Amino acid sequence: MLLLCLAVFYLISSSPCASAPSWYSTGSRSARNKLLLISFDGFRWDYDRDVDTPNLDKMAQDGVKAIYVTPPFLTITSPAHFTLLTGRYIENHGVIHNMWFNTTTQEKKQYYMTQFVDSYWDNGSLPIWITAQRQGLKAGSLHFPGTAATYKGETVRVRKVEPRFYDHSNETDWRLNINKVIGEWFHQQDLDFVSLYFGEPDSAGHKYGPDSPERRKMVQQVDRTVGYIRDTIQDHGLTDQLNIIITADHGMTTVLRGGLVKEIMLSKIPGFSFKDIKFHLVDYGPAGMLLPKEGMLEKVYQALKGGHPHLHVYKKEEMPARLHYSNHPRLLPIILFADPGYVINGFLPVQFHKGEHGFDNQVTDMKPFFRAVGPDFQKNQVVGPFETVNVYPLMCHLLGINPEINDGHIDNTKHMLVPKKKAEGNNNKMSTRLQVVVGLSAVTGFLVLVFIVTTSYALCKRPKIREENSCKLKHAASEENTDMEQTIF
Ligand SMILES: *[C@@H]1O[C@H](CO)[C@@H](O)[C@H](O)[C@H]1NC(C)=O
Ligand SMILES: *[C@@H]1O[C@H](CO)[C@@H](O)[C@H](O)[C@H]1NC(C)=O
Ligand SMILES: *[C@@H]1O[C@H](CO)[C@@H](O)[C@H](O)[C@H]1NC(C)=O
Ligand SMILES: [Zn+2]
Repeated sequence: MLLLCLAVFYLISSSPCASAPSWYSTGSRSARNKLLLISFDGFRWDYDRDVDTPNLDKMAQDGVKAIYVTPPFLTITSPAHFTLLTGRYIENHGVIHNMWFNTTTQEKKQYYMTQFVDSYWDNGSLPIWITAQRQGLKAGSLHFPGTAATYKGETVRVRKVEPRFYDHSNETDWRLNINKVIGEWFHQQDLDFVSLYFGEPDSAGHKYGPDSPERRKMVQQVDRTVGYIRDTIQDHGLTDQLNIIITADHGMTTVLRGGLVKEIMLSKIPGFSFKDIKFHLVDYGPAGMLLPKEGMLEKVYQALKGGHPHLHVYKKEEMPARLHYSNHPRLLPIILFADPGYVINGFLPVQFHKGEHGFDNQVTDMKPFFRAVGPDFQKNQVVGPFETVNVYPLMCHLLGINPEINDGHIDNTKHMLVPKKKAEGNNNKMSTRLQVVVGLSAVTGFLVLVFIVTTSYALCKRPKIREENSCKLKHAASEENTDMEQTIF
Protein backbone atom coordinates (compact mmCIF):
# COMPACT_ATOMS: atom_id res chain seq x y z
CA MET A 1 0.00 0.00 0.00
CA LEU A 2 2.85 2.33 0.81
CA LEU A 3 4.33 1.54 -2.58
CA LEU A 4 1.02 2.39 -4.21
CA CYS A 5 0.97 5.76 -2.47
CA LEU A 6 4.53 6.48 -3.55
CA ALA A 7 3.61 5.61 -7.10
CA VAL A 8 0.73 8.09 -6.97
CA PHE A 9 3.08 10.70 -5.50
CA TYR A 10 5.48 10.17 -8.32
CA LEU A 11 2.87 10.41 -11.04
CA ILE A 12 1.34 13.53 -9.60
CA SER A 13 4.63 15.31 -9.10
CA SER A 14 5.40 14.93 -12.78
CA SER A 15 1.94 16.16 -13.76
CA PRO A 16 0.96 19.54 -15.28
CA CYS A 17 1.03 21.62 -12.17
CA ALA A 18 4.77 21.21 -11.70
CA SER A 19 5.92 21.06 -15.28
CA ALA A 20 3.73 23.54 -17.16
CA PRO A 21 5.33 26.76 -15.91
CA SER A 22 8.84 25.80 -16.96
CA TRP A 23 7.63 24.52 -20.32
CA TYR A 24 5.78 27.75 -20.81
CA SER A 25 8.74 30.00 -20.20
CA THR A 26 11.18 28.04 -22.35
CA GLY A 27 8.47 27.92 -25.01
CA SER A 28 8.00 31.68 -25.07
CA ARG A 29 11.74 32.33 -25.00
CA SER A 30 12.54 30.35 -28.08
CA ALA A 31 9.47 31.21 -30.18
CA ARG A 32 9.99 34.98 -30.24
CA ASN A 33 12.60 36.33 -32.60
CA LYS A 34 15.06 38.95 -31.47
CA LEU A 35 15.11 42.47 -32.91
CA LEU A 36 17.92 44.89 -33.70
CA LEU A 37 16.95 48.49 -34.50
CA ILE A 38 19.77 50.45 -36.14
CA SER A 39 19.83 54.15 -36.92
CA PHE A 40 22.40 55.72 -39.23
CA ASP A 41 21.85 59.37 -38.40
CA GLY A 42 20.87 61.49 -41.39
CA PHE A 43 20.86 58.66 -43.97
CA ARG A 44 18.66 60.19 -46.65
CA TRP A 45 16.37 57.80 -48.54
CA ASP A 46 18.26 58.14 -51.83
CA TYR A 47 21.87 58.00 -50.58
CA ASP A 48 22.33 54.62 -52.23
CA ARG A 49 21.64 56.02 -55.69
CA ASP A 50 25.01 57.59 -56.46
CA VAL A 51 27.16 55.12 -54.52
CA ASP A 52 27.88 51.46 -55.02
CA THR A 53 26.20 49.75 -52.04
CA PRO A 54 26.44 45.97 -52.52
CA ASN A 55 25.57 45.15 -48.92
CA LEU A 56 22.51 47.36 -48.76
CA ASP A 57 21.42 45.92 -52.12
CA LYS A 58 21.86 42.38 -50.84
CA MET A 59 19.88 43.26 -47.73
CA ALA A 60 17.04 44.61 -49.90
CA GLN A 61 17.06 41.36 -51.91
CA ASP A 62 16.89 39.30 -48.73
CA GLY A 63 14.31 41.54 -47.08
CA VAL A 64 12.18 44.66 -47.36
CA LYS A 65 13.01 48.13 -48.60
CA ALA A 66 10.70 51.14 -48.30
CA ILE A 67 11.02 53.76 -51.02
CA TYR A 68 11.43 56.23 -48.16
CA VAL A 69 9.87 56.96 -44.78
CA THR A 70 8.46 60.21 -43.42
CA PRO A 71 10.00 61.46 -40.19
CA PRO A 72 8.15 63.62 -37.68
CA PHE A 73 8.53 67.40 -37.68
CA LEU A 74 10.88 68.82 -36.32
CA THR A 75 13.24 66.77 -38.50
CA ILE A 76 16.13 66.77 -36.02
CA THR A 77 17.94 64.06 -34.11
CA SER A 78 16.65 63.63 -30.56
CA PRO A 79 12.97 64.36 -31.31
CA ALA A 80 12.90 62.08 -34.37
CA HIS A 81 14.72 59.23 -32.61
CA PHE A 82 12.32 59.44 -29.70
CA THR A 83 9.48 59.03 -32.19
CA LEU A 84 11.10 55.77 -33.37
CA LEU A 85 11.27 54.58 -29.76
CA THR A 86 7.74 55.63 -28.74
CA GLY A 87 5.62 55.75 -31.90
CA ARG A 88 4.46 59.24 -30.90
CA TYR A 89 4.57 62.51 -32.74
CA ILE A 90 6.88 65.05 -31.16
CA GLU A 91 4.11 67.17 -29.61
CA ASN A 92 2.94 64.00 -27.89
CA HIS A 93 6.24 62.68 -26.54
CA GLY A 94 7.60 66.08 -25.49
CA VAL A 95 11.22 65.80 -26.65
CA ILE A 96 10.62 68.83 -28.82
CA HIS A 97 14.23 69.80 -29.60
CA ASN A 98 17.83 68.58 -29.41
CA MET A 99 18.36 71.28 -26.83
CA TRP A 100 16.99 71.54 -23.33
CA PHE A 101 16.30 75.14 -22.33
CA ASN A 102 14.86 77.24 -19.56
CA THR A 103 13.11 80.42 -20.70
CA THR A 104 13.39 81.99 -17.23
CA THR A 105 17.08 81.49 -16.58
CA GLN A 106 18.02 81.60 -20.32
CA GLU A 107 19.99 78.42 -19.73
CA LYS A 108 20.48 76.09 -22.72
CA LYS A 109 22.01 72.65 -22.87
CA GLN A 110 23.39 71.35 -26.13
CA TYR A 111 22.51 67.96 -27.61
CA TYR A 112 24.99 65.96 -25.56
CA MET A 113 24.20 67.40 -22.12
CA THR A 114 20.46 67.21 -22.82
CA GLN A 115 20.83 63.41 -22.97
CA PHE A 116 21.25 63.44 -19.17
CA VAL A 117 18.21 65.56 -18.28
CA ASP A 118 15.82 62.81 -17.19
CA SER A 119 12.80 65.08 -16.84
CA TYR A 120 13.22 66.22 -20.45
CA TRP A 121 12.94 62.68 -21.87
CA ASP A 122 10.55 61.23 -19.30
CA ASN A 123 7.58 63.40 -20.25
CA GLY A 124 4.82 60.79 -20.35
CA SER A 125 5.89 58.45 -23.16
CA LEU A 126 7.81 55.27 -22.46
CA PRO A 127 10.49 54.17 -24.92
CA ILE A 128 10.17 50.62 -26.14
CA TRP A 129 13.04 49.35 -23.95
CA ILE A 130 11.08 50.06 -20.77
CA THR A 131 7.87 48.56 -22.10
CA ALA A 132 9.78 45.45 -23.21
CA GLN A 133 11.47 45.13 -19.81
CA ARG A 134 8.16 45.53 -17.98
CA GLN A 135 6.81 42.64 -20.04
CA GLY A 136 9.72 40.35 -19.18
CA LEU A 137 12.05 40.93 -22.14
CA LYS A 138 15.69 41.93 -22.02
CA ALA A 139 16.54 45.19 -23.77
CA GLY A 140 19.75 47.03 -24.57
CA SER A 141 20.83 50.23 -26.23
CA LEU A 142 24.11 51.55 -27.57
CA HIS A 143 24.50 55.32 -28.14
CA PHE A 144 20.87 55.68 -29.22
CA PRO A 145 19.41 59.08 -28.27
CA GLY A 146 17.49 58.70 -25.01
CA THR A 147 19.67 55.86 -23.72
CA ALA A 148 21.10 57.81 -20.79
CA ALA A 149 17.76 58.87 -19.30
CA THR A 150 15.67 57.27 -16.56
CA TYR A 151 11.99 56.72 -17.28
CA LYS A 152 9.59 56.31 -14.36
CA GLY A 153 12.55 55.19 -12.28
CA GLU A 154 13.80 52.68 -14.84
CA THR A 155 16.59 52.75 -17.43
CA VAL A 156 17.29 50.40 -20.30
CA ARG A 157 19.18 47.79 -18.30
CA VAL A 158 21.98 46.98 -20.72
CA ARG A 159 23.41 50.13 -22.21
CA LYS A 160 26.42 51.98 -23.47
CA VAL A 161 26.05 55.73 -23.32
CA GLU A 162 27.96 57.76 -25.87
CA PRO A 163 31.12 59.32 -24.41
CA ARG A 164 31.62 63.07 -24.55
CA PHE A 165 33.51 64.35 -27.64
CA TYR A 166 33.03 61.09 -29.43
CA ASP A 167 34.44 60.55 -32.92
CA HIS A 168 31.34 59.42 -34.77
CA SER A 169 33.11 58.30 -37.92
CA ASN A 170 35.66 55.77 -36.60
CA GLU A 171 34.94 52.51 -38.42
CA THR A 172 37.08 50.45 -36.05
CA ASP A 173 34.99 51.69 -33.17
CA TRP A 174 31.81 50.87 -35.11
CA ARG A 175 32.96 47.27 -35.41
CA LEU A 176 33.83 47.01 -31.72
CA ASN A 177 30.33 48.25 -30.90
CA ILE A 178 28.78 45.77 -33.32
CA ASN A 179 30.77 42.94 -31.74
CA LYS A 180 29.49 44.03 -28.34
CA VAL A 181 25.85 44.18 -29.41
CA ILE A 182 25.83 40.92 -31.34
CA GLY A 183 28.46 38.84 -29.56
CA GLU A 184 27.90 39.92 -25.98
CA TRP A 185 24.39 41.26 -25.79
CA PHE A 186 22.41 39.10 -28.21
CA HIS A 187 24.52 35.94 -28.14
CA GLN A 188 25.95 35.66 -24.63
CA GLN A 189 23.36 37.64 -22.64
CA ASP A 190 20.41 36.56 -24.79
CA LEU A 191 18.86 40.02 -25.11
CA ASP A 192 15.60 40.28 -27.04
CA PHE A 193 15.88 43.85 -28.32
CA VAL A 194 18.73 46.28 -28.91
CA SER A 195 18.79 49.75 -30.43
CA LEU A 196 22.10 50.77 -32.00
CA TYR A 197 23.03 54.25 -33.17
CA PHE A 198 25.68 55.58 -35.55
CA GLY A 199 26.29 59.34 -35.87
CA GLU A 200 27.01 59.11 -39.60
CA PRO A 201 26.41 59.98 -42.42
CA ASP A 202 24.88 63.01 -40.63
CA SER A 203 28.21 64.65 -39.76
CA ALA A 204 29.62 64.20 -43.26
CA GLY A 205 26.35 65.55 -44.72
CA HIS A 206 26.46 68.68 -42.55
CA LYS A 207 30.13 69.36 -43.04
CA TYR A 208 30.55 68.67 -46.74
CA GLY A 209 26.97 68.68 -48.01
CA PRO A 210 24.79 65.78 -49.20
CA ASP A 211 26.17 65.91 -52.75
CA SER A 212 29.83 65.80 -51.73
CA PRO A 213 32.33 62.99 -52.37
CA GLU A 214 32.89 62.88 -48.59
CA ARG A 215 29.24 62.00 -48.02
CA ARG A 216 29.41 59.32 -50.72
CA LYS A 217 32.51 57.89 -49.07
CA MET A 218 30.70 57.75 -45.74
CA VAL A 219 27.79 55.93 -47.34
CA GLN A 220 30.28 53.32 -48.52
CA GLN A 221 31.45 53.00 -44.92
CA VAL A 222 27.84 52.52 -43.84
CA ASP A 223 27.43 49.89 -46.55
CA ARG A 224 30.54 47.97 -45.40
CA THR A 225 29.16 48.18 -41.88
CA VAL A 226 25.83 46.69 -42.93
CA GLY A 227 27.79 43.81 -44.46
CA TYR A 228 29.81 43.44 -41.27
CA ILE A 229 26.66 43.41 -39.13
CA ARG A 230 25.05 40.68 -41.20
CA ASP A 231 28.25 38.60 -41.27
CA THR A 232 28.65 38.91 -37.51
CA ILE A 233 25.05 37.83 -36.99
CA GLN A 234 25.72 34.84 -39.25
CA ASP A 235 28.92 33.95 -37.37
CA HIS A 236 26.99 33.80 -34.12
CA GLY A 237 24.30 31.61 -35.64
CA LEU A 238 21.62 34.25 -35.10
CA THR A 239 20.47 34.87 -38.70
CA ASP A 240 17.30 32.79 -38.34
CA GLN A 241 16.21 34.32 -35.05
CA LEU A 242 17.13 37.98 -35.38
CA ASN A 243 15.16 40.62 -37.28
CA ILE A 244 17.01 43.78 -38.29
CA ILE A 245 15.47 47.18 -39.01
CA ILE A 246 17.81 49.85 -40.39
CA THR A 247 16.54 53.40 -40.67
CA ALA A 248 17.36 56.99 -39.74
CA ASP A 249 15.96 60.05 -38.05
CA HIS A 250 15.87 62.48 -41.00
CA GLY A 251 17.55 63.29 -44.32
CA MET A 252 19.73 66.21 -45.41
CA THR A 253 19.63 69.02 -47.96
CA THR A 254 22.15 71.47 -49.38
CA VAL A 255 22.23 74.91 -47.81
CA LEU A 256 21.90 77.64 -50.45
CA ARG A 257 24.53 80.34 -50.35
CA GLY A 258 26.14 82.94 -52.55
CA GLY A 259 25.24 85.88 -54.71
CA LEU A 260 21.55 85.47 -55.46
CA VAL A 261 20.56 83.97 -52.13
CA LYS A 262 19.07 86.37 -49.62
CA GLU A 263 19.79 84.84 -46.25
CA ILE A 264 17.28 84.96 -43.42
CA MET A 265 18.52 87.38 -40.76
CA LEU A 266 15.84 88.10 -38.18
CA SER A 267 17.49 91.31 -36.89
CA LYS A 268 17.25 92.81 -40.38
CA ILE A 269 13.53 92.24 -40.74
CA PRO A 270 11.78 95.65 -40.50
CA GLY A 271 9.74 96.08 -37.32
CA PHE A 272 11.36 93.13 -35.59
CA SER A 273 13.61 93.63 -32.59
CA PHE A 274 15.23 91.17 -30.21
CA LYS A 275 14.36 93.74 -27.51
CA ASP A 276 10.81 92.42 -27.71
CA ILE A 277 11.94 88.84 -27.14
CA LYS A 278 12.26 87.23 -23.71
CA PHE A 279 13.82 83.98 -24.95
CA HIS A 280 14.78 82.67 -28.38
CA LEU A 281 16.04 79.49 -29.94
CA VAL A 282 17.48 80.49 -33.33
CA ASP A 283 20.79 79.91 -35.12
CA TYR A 284 19.95 76.23 -35.05
CA GLY A 285 19.42 75.37 -38.69
CA PRO A 286 16.14 75.92 -40.50
CA ALA A 287 13.77 76.14 -37.52
CA GLY A 288 13.47 78.39 -34.49
CA MET A 289 11.20 79.41 -31.64
CA LEU A 290 10.56 82.71 -29.91
CA LEU A 291 9.04 83.74 -26.60
CA PRO A 292 8.05 87.43 -26.93
CA LYS A 293 7.98 89.63 -23.86
CA GLU A 294 4.67 90.29 -22.14
CA GLY A 295 2.26 91.99 -24.56
CA MET A 296 4.64 91.78 -27.54
CA LEU A 297 3.38 88.63 -29.22
CA GLU A 298 1.22 90.34 -31.83
CA LYS A 299 3.87 92.92 -32.73
CA VAL A 300 6.57 90.28 -33.16
CA TYR A 301 4.27 88.04 -35.13
CA GLN A 302 3.11 90.80 -37.49
CA ALA A 303 6.67 91.96 -38.09
CA LEU A 304 8.01 88.52 -38.95
CA LYS A 305 5.04 87.27 -40.95
CA GLY A 306 5.93 88.00 -44.56
CA GLY A 307 9.31 89.35 -43.43
CA HIS A 308 11.24 87.02 -45.72
CA PRO A 309 9.93 85.10 -48.75
CA HIS A 310 11.39 81.82 -47.48
CA LEU A 311 10.49 82.15 -43.81
CA HIS A 312 7.34 80.56 -42.38
CA VAL A 313 6.02 82.18 -39.21
CA TYR A 314 3.32 80.65 -37.05
CA LYS A 315 1.76 81.24 -33.73
CA LYS A 316 2.17 77.94 -31.96
CA GLU A 317 -1.55 77.14 -32.03
CA GLU A 318 -1.77 77.96 -35.75
CA MET A 319 0.90 75.49 -36.83
CA PRO A 320 -0.41 73.23 -39.62
CA ALA A 321 -1.99 70.21 -37.91
CA ARG A 322 -0.16 67.80 -40.25
CA LEU A 323 3.15 68.78 -38.59
CA HIS A 324 1.97 67.67 -35.11
CA TYR A 325 4.19 70.32 -33.59
CA SER A 326 1.81 72.56 -31.77
CA ASN A 327 0.23 71.03 -28.74
CA HIS A 328 2.94 70.90 -26.10
CA PRO A 329 3.73 73.32 -23.25
CA ARG A 330 7.44 73.28 -24.12
CA LEU A 331 6.81 74.79 -27.53
CA LEU A 332 7.24 78.57 -27.52
CA PRO A 333 4.45 80.91 -28.74
CA ILE A 334 6.07 81.66 -32.11
CA ILE A 335 7.48 78.91 -34.30
CA LEU A 336 9.61 79.65 -37.37
CA PHE A 337 10.81 77.40 -40.15
CA ALA A 338 12.51 78.06 -43.44
CA ASP A 339 12.09 76.72 -46.96
CA PRO A 340 14.55 74.04 -48.08
CA GLY A 341 18.06 75.46 -48.41
CA TYR A 342 17.58 78.35 -45.96
CA VAL A 343 18.64 78.60 -42.33
CA ILE A 344 17.41 81.06 -39.71
CA ASN A 345 20.03 83.46 -38.37
CA GLY A 346 19.52 85.89 -35.50
CA PHE A 347 21.97 88.78 -35.69
CA LEU A 348 24.76 87.44 -37.90
CA PRO A 349 25.32 84.39 -40.04
CA VAL A 350 26.85 81.93 -37.57
CA GLN A 351 25.97 78.71 -39.37
CA PHE A 352 28.34 77.46 -42.01
CA HIS A 353 27.14 73.91 -42.55
CA LYS A 354 26.91 72.89 -46.20
CA GLY A 355 24.07 70.51 -45.43
CA GLU A 356 21.11 70.89 -43.04
CA HIS A 357 17.96 69.14 -41.84
CA GLY A 358 15.11 70.35 -39.65
CA PHE A 359 12.88 71.39 -42.57
CA ASP A 360 9.24 70.49 -43.18
CA ASN A 361 8.89 66.71 -43.14
CA GLN A 362 7.08 66.87 -46.51
CA VAL A 363 10.34 67.95 -48.16
CA THR A 364 11.68 64.97 -50.09
CA ASP A 365 15.25 65.57 -48.93
CA MET A 366 14.15 65.19 -45.29
CA LYS A 367 13.04 61.57 -45.78
CA PRO A 368 15.21 58.81 -44.33
CA PHE A 369 15.72 55.28 -45.69
CA PHE A 370 14.17 52.13 -44.26
CA ARG A 371 15.33 48.53 -44.67
CA ALA A 372 14.45 45.36 -42.81
CA VAL A 373 15.53 41.75 -42.99
CA GLY A 374 15.05 38.66 -40.88
CA PRO A 375 12.88 35.63 -40.26
CA ASP A 376 9.66 37.66 -39.92
CA PHE A 377 10.14 39.85 -43.01
CA GLN A 378 9.22 39.25 -46.62
CA LYS A 379 12.01 38.82 -49.12
CA ASN A 380 12.83 41.05 -52.07
CA GLN A 381 9.90 43.35 -51.39
CA VAL A 382 9.76 47.09 -52.06
CA VAL A 383 7.03 48.91 -50.15
CA GLY A 384 5.60 52.41 -50.36
CA PRO A 385 6.38 55.20 -47.95
CA PHE A 386 5.04 55.31 -44.41
CA GLU A 387 5.51 57.56 -41.40
CA THR A 388 8.17 56.59 -38.86
CA VAL A 389 5.57 56.66 -36.04
CA ASN A 390 4.64 53.24 -37.43
CA VAL A 391 8.01 51.67 -36.67
CA TYR A 392 7.15 51.41 -32.96
CA PRO A 393 3.98 49.30 -33.31
CA LEU A 394 5.84 47.14 -35.84
CA MET A 395 8.63 46.52 -33.33
CA CYS A 396 6.16 45.74 -30.52
CA HIS A 397 4.43 43.29 -32.82
CA LEU A 398 7.72 41.57 -33.72
CA LEU A 399 8.66 41.32 -30.04
CA GLY A 400 5.21 40.11 -29.02
CA ILE A 401 4.71 42.88 -26.48
CA ASN A 402 1.71 45.13 -25.87
CA PRO A 403 2.45 48.64 -27.14
CA GLU A 404 1.81 51.80 -25.15
CA ILE A 405 -0.60 54.33 -26.62
CA ASN A 406 1.03 55.59 -29.82
CA ASP A 407 0.36 57.48 -33.06
CA GLY A 408 1.21 54.66 -35.46
CA HIS A 409 -0.56 51.49 -36.51
CA ILE A 410 0.58 47.99 -37.33
CA ASP A 411 -1.74 48.03 -40.37
CA ASN A 412 0.68 50.45 -42.04
CA THR A 413 3.57 47.99 -42.00
CA LYS A 414 2.23 44.48 -41.58
CA HIS A 415 2.34 43.82 -45.34
CA MET A 416 6.12 43.62 -44.91
CA LEU A 417 5.83 40.57 -42.70
CA VAL A 418 5.59 36.97 -43.78
CA PRO A 419 1.90 36.21 -43.44
CA LYS A 420 1.37 32.81 -41.86
CA LYS A 421 2.89 31.80 -38.52
CA LYS A 422 4.61 35.00 -37.66
CA ALA A 423 1.83 37.48 -38.21
CA GLU A 424 -0.11 36.07 -35.31
CA GLY A 425 2.80 33.78 -34.87
CA ASN A 426 4.71 34.25 -31.68
CA ASN A 427 1.76 33.64 -29.44
CA ASN A 428 0.22 30.91 -31.54
CA LYS A 429 3.40 28.91 -31.74
CA MET A 430 3.80 29.20 -28.02
CA SER A 431 0.22 28.36 -27.19
CA THR A 432 0.21 25.37 -29.54
CA ARG A 433 3.16 24.04 -27.67
CA LEU A 434 1.49 24.82 -24.41
CA GLN A 435 -1.68 23.10 -25.58
CA VAL A 436 0.27 19.93 -26.32
CA VAL A 437 1.80 20.01 -22.89
CA VAL A 438 -1.51 20.68 -21.22
CA GLY A 439 -3.20 18.01 -23.34
CA LEU A 440 -0.63 15.36 -22.49
CA SER A 441 -0.70 16.39 -18.89
CA ALA A 442 -4.47 16.17 -18.81
CA VAL A 443 -4.34 12.63 -20.14
CA THR A 444 -1.73 11.74 -17.56
CA GLY A 445 -3.81 13.42 -14.89
CA PHE A 446 -6.90 11.51 -15.96
CA LEU A 447 -5.06 8.19 -15.85
CA VAL A 448 -3.74 9.06 -12.43
CA LEU A 449 -7.22 9.91 -11.29
CA VAL A 450 -8.60 6.61 -12.59
CA PHE A 451 -5.72 4.87 -10.91
CA ILE A 452 -6.42 6.61 -7.63
CA VAL A 453 -10.15 6.09 -7.69
CA THR A 454 -10.00 2.44 -8.61
CA THR A 455 -7.16 1.35 -6.37
CA SER A 456 -6.29 3.58 -3.49
CA TYR A 457 -8.70 6.45 -3.07
CA ALA A 458 -9.41 6.02 0.59
CA LEU A 459 -5.86 5.23 1.64
CA CYS A 460 -4.01 7.97 -0.17
CA LYS A 461 -6.33 10.89 0.51
CA ARG A 462 -4.08 12.79 2.92
CA PRO A 463 -0.79 12.38 1.05
CA LYS A 464 -2.49 13.57 -2.12
CA ILE A 465 -3.67 16.76 -0.50
CA ARG A 466 -0.20 17.38 0.85
CA GLU A 467 1.22 16.83 -2.57
CA GLU A 468 -1.16 19.34 -4.07
CA ASN A 469 0.04 21.94 -1.63
CA SER A 470 3.68 21.24 -2.31
CA CYS A 471 2.80 21.38 -5.97
CA LYS A 472 1.45 24.91 -5.54
CA LEU A 473 4.63 25.85 -3.75
CA LYS A 474 6.72 24.50 -6.56
CA HIS A 475 4.67 26.52 -9.00
CA ALA A 476 5.19 29.67 -6.98
CA ALA A 477 8.89 28.92 -6.63
CA SER A 478 9.32 28.42 -10.34
CA GLU A 479 7.53 31.69 -11.08
CA GLU A 480 9.85 33.41 -8.69
CA ASN A 481 12.82 31.89 -10.45
CA THR A 482 11.64 33.25 -13.76
CA ASP A 483 11.34 36.71 -12.24
CA MET A 484 14.80 36.49 -10.76
CA GLU A 485 16.24 35.40 -14.08
CA GLN A 486 14.73 38.47 -15.66
CA THR A 487 16.01 40.96 -13.14
CA ILE A 488 19.48 39.55 -12.70
CA PHE A 489 21.25 40.57 -15.90
C1 LIG B 1 13.50 77.27 -15.02
O1 LIG B 1 14.10 77.98 -14.00
C2 LIG B 1 13.17 78.50 -13.06
C3 LIG B 1 13.92 79.43 -12.11
O2 LIG B 1 15.05 78.78 -11.59
C4 LIG B 1 12.48 77.37 -12.36
O3 LIG B 1 11.54 77.85 -11.45
C5 LIG B 1 11.79 76.50 -13.41
O4 LIG B 1 11.22 75.36 -12.81
C6 LIG B 1 12.77 76.07 -14.48
N1 LIG B 1 12.06 75.37 -15.54
C7 LIG B 1 12.49 74.22 -16.06
C8 LIG B 1 11.70 73.69 -17.21
O5 LIG B 1 13.47 73.63 -15.64
C1 LIG C 1 5.91 67.40 -19.64
O1 LIG C 1 6.64 68.60 -19.56
C2 LIG C 1 5.82 69.74 -19.35
C3 LIG C 1 6.66 71.00 -19.46
O2 LIG C 1 8.00 70.78 -19.17
C4 LIG C 1 5.14 69.63 -18.00
O3 LIG C 1 4.31 70.73 -17.79
C5 LIG C 1 4.32 68.37 -18.00
O4 LIG C 1 3.76 68.18 -16.72
C6 LIG C 1 5.18 67.16 -18.33
N1 LIG C 1 4.31 65.99 -18.45
C7 LIG C 1 4.65 64.80 -17.95
C8 LIG C 1 3.61 63.73 -18.07
O5 LIG C 1 5.72 64.57 -17.44
C1 LIG D 1 39.42 54.45 -33.80
O1 LIG D 1 38.97 53.68 -32.72
C2 LIG D 1 39.90 52.71 -32.28
C3 LIG D 1 39.21 51.82 -31.27
O2 LIG D 1 38.49 52.55 -30.32
C4 LIG D 1 41.12 53.42 -31.75
O3 LIG D 1 42.07 52.49 -31.28
C5 LIG D 1 41.73 54.28 -32.84
O4 LIG D 1 42.79 55.04 -32.33
C6 LIG D 1 40.67 55.22 -33.41
N1 LIG D 1 41.22 55.87 -34.61
C7 LIG D 1 41.24 57.17 -34.75
C8 LIG D 1 41.77 57.68 -36.04
O5 LIG D 1 40.84 57.95 -33.89
ZN1 LIG E 1 20.16 63.32 -36.77
